[in-house]
Amino acid sequence: MTAGFEIAPWQLRWCGMDFDRLHRAESIFALANGHLGLRGTLDEGEPIGLPGTYLNGFYETRQLPYAETGFGYPEQGQTVVNVTDGKIVRLLVEDEPMDMRYGKTIDHERVLDFRSGTMRRMTVWTSPTGRTVRIRSERLVSFTERALAAIRYEVQPLDADLELVVQSDLLANEPVETTPGDPRLAAALDRPLVADFAAAHDLAAVLAHHTRGSGLRMAAGMDHELDFAGSARCDVRAGEDLARVTIAADVPEGQRLCLTKYCAYGWSSRRSTPALRAQVDAALAAGLDTGWDRLLARQRAYLDEFWRTADIEIDGDPELQQAVRFALFHILQAGARGETRAIPAKGLTGPGYDGHSFWDTETFVLPVLTYTVPNAAGDALRWRHATLDKARRRARELGQPGAMFPWRSINGDEGSGYWPTATAAVHVDADIADATVRYLAATGDEPFETDCGVELLVETARLWAGIGHFDPSGDFRIDGVTGPDEYSALADNNIYTNLMAQRNLHEAAQACARRPDVAGRLGVSAEETARWRDQAKRMSLPYNEDLGVHEQSENFTRYARWDFAATPAENYPLLLHYPYFDLYRKQVVKQADLTLAMYLCPNAFTAEEKVRDFDYYEAVTVRDSSLSAGIQAVLAAEVGHLSLAFDYFTEAALTDLHDLHNNAAHGLHIASLAGTWIACVGGFGGMRDNDGELRFAPRLPTALNRISFRIVWRGNCIRVDIDAETATYRVLSGGAVALRHHGERHTIGDASTRLPIPQRPPRPGPRLPHGREPYRRP
Ligand code: BGC
Repeated sequence: MTAGFEIAPWQLRWCGMDFDRLHRAESIFALANGHLGLRGTLDEGEPIGLPGTYLNGFYETRQLPYAETGFGYPEQGQTVVNVTDGKIVRLLVEDEPMDMRYGKTIDHERVLDFRSGTMRRMTVWTSPTGRTVRIRSERLVSFTERALAAIRYEVQPLDADLELVVQSDLLANEPVETTPGDPRLAAALDRPLVADFAAAHDLAAVLAHHTRGSGLRMAAGMDHELDFAGSARCDVRAGEDLARVTIAADVPEGQRLCLTKYCAYGWSSRRSTPALRAQVDAALAAGLDTGWDRLLARQRAYLDEFWRTADIEIDGDPELQQAVRFALFHILQAGARGETRAIPAKGLTGPGYDGHSFWDTETFVLPVLTYTVPNAAGDALRWRHATLDKARRRARELGQPGAMFPWRSINGDEGSGYWPTATAAVHVDADIADATVRYLAATGDEPFETDCGVELLVETARLWAGIGHFDPSGDFRIDGVTGPDEYSALADNNIYTNLMAQRNLHEAAQACARRPDVAGRLGVSAEETARWRDQAKRMSLPYNEDLGVHEQSENFTRYARWDFAATPAENYPLLLHYPYFDLYRKQVVKQADLTLAMYLCPNAFTAEEKVRDFDYYEAVTVRDSSLSAGIQAVLAAEVGHLSLAFDYFTEAALTDLHDLHNNAAHGLHIASLAGTWIACVGGFGGMRDNDGELRFAPRLPTALNRISFRIVWRGNCIRVDIDAETATYRVLSGGAVALRHHGERHTIGDASTRLPIPQRPPRPGPRLPHGREPYRRP
């Protein structure tokens, strides 16, 4: 047992009750399907950290605060709304509200089950007046019925016949704590839902609301099945912000009263309140018709299929085995049924980052989904495509051609008020292009290419052609932009941005050659693609000959070094303790930047350059962002620091479970969870996919005995098993797959192909910034 969780391969069990860590537990035990998300609050509603019921894409607008404004600053931001809460099932035991802060909790545990896709809870509680009950509940957010959640709540008196009252609520406008210091945000989120409609009958109720600013409409409904051998008095009421079904019964000792609650949600920017109500009624009818047992069975079948194509087995470290499955489960929950909505940085696990999506989606989450649940990756890219008009408008506003995608957003509009690390972080365009190319290569999804893919590549390429320029020496430069490292801003020729833009330009030209019909529709001429190829060919890639390393951006290696020895541990993350004015002028890297470029554009560097570049940038990278460790693991493994790679992998895997950034309370770090997969597959598996070919170069750290992962490539599912000396490849379903193993070509079929792993001597580890060694478990 570490960090309060019992270690088990397929579940996360938390025994006992720790009121100080309620917030964090709610994020960790959150259930979602990409469309609807419920934080892992206690059924009774209290004690609570943050309530949290989210509908992907449902937000309120707010004015962005500026001390001084400037041309092109976005005026309005968006923020995720905690919608009507249907998770609450209150219990009164002989008049006493069941509340674990009072009385005595004899037993309490919660289990997040990665195979059943449910959260189970078991509590034995004695009320302050000495009455003991056992409560069992199980909750799911359905992967197969995306508008539906269900809760089975069962209570049993243990030492006497008891009068029990169960109240099942739909509650809108719950009080939610907001970030201190931003009164406009607090104002936008103060009772954000305006009541439109309330109705109740039998054991069912519906509430409909809309938001003031964004004008989005939603409806939430609930219906119930009661299973109790005796007689019960039932009542239902609905007011503007509260609907309640009350069940009162005398329950004999040892007997069970069992309530199954079905909750359905719908929202829209266009549909009317009656239409939403009808949608919710229909979803409830379907849910009741399906019934709890079949919902459970469908959930299990959905997850069985997921694990069939996505599971990672880790032999030799049970805690990491659990953490990797936890990561995969939450990535699935963030993206499975988003269906042309964004995948937020926190998924639907909390209100952190205002519920915004970033480049995290394309660069971290989509690589995982592309190879495990390709449809979900396609849907996320279709969301980007659906926002193209906004991105084109934003580019026009800033005097640029093509499209400029937002740095952070829910609805496709730029939502950041800090332009140096937002508007200037134009690499997000290239990240979207990169994810598009990867998705197309891995799936061959032609309808997507025709409808969305080529257009995404073309409009992003057009941006580079606009913001870059040829200098007198003939180099194509991209100046004044911000790369992934947010401790450097407005830099010239950031190598990550330039390499990714190069790939973007090249791939856009290729796509147009492949699909002249679509290129014609988009008005792409032969001259335009020739220009793209030329710009890509002559892209400036700064290099310091004296040091023999690439420059993260021009002159970066000439900046003063950050004084790491004089920086106390409690001053990290640096952005909370030092001014950007200082950070931007020094050699200190928040997160993998050039190191990420070496992973995503591996052919742009020789093996020797990778070794030198990695070592150089390790010495100045502080990992103040959780997006870093997984990527550093990949390059550490590639250049021969396998035990460092293992440590970074461990850090990525435990970021939320051990709360390493101290902020899991507001939601999980979905990109870091994805970094866990990237560290396994890209790091220890050495998988690279950048040139349309599947390549592996597996190597296992000595801390592990074996790793096995699965990926889906062009509809075929392959399994890769790695031990210290060999890698075994096998097609689990589908046809033969061509791949490279440490550079050699092989064709893999459904019989195992076992290949030796070339051994190499370990290299001495790189120097790391003082006090910033990777996390080590206590
Ligand atoms: C990172 C960004 C990231 C954002 C959301 C920031 O701390 O520096 O790269 O997109 O968090 O996860």
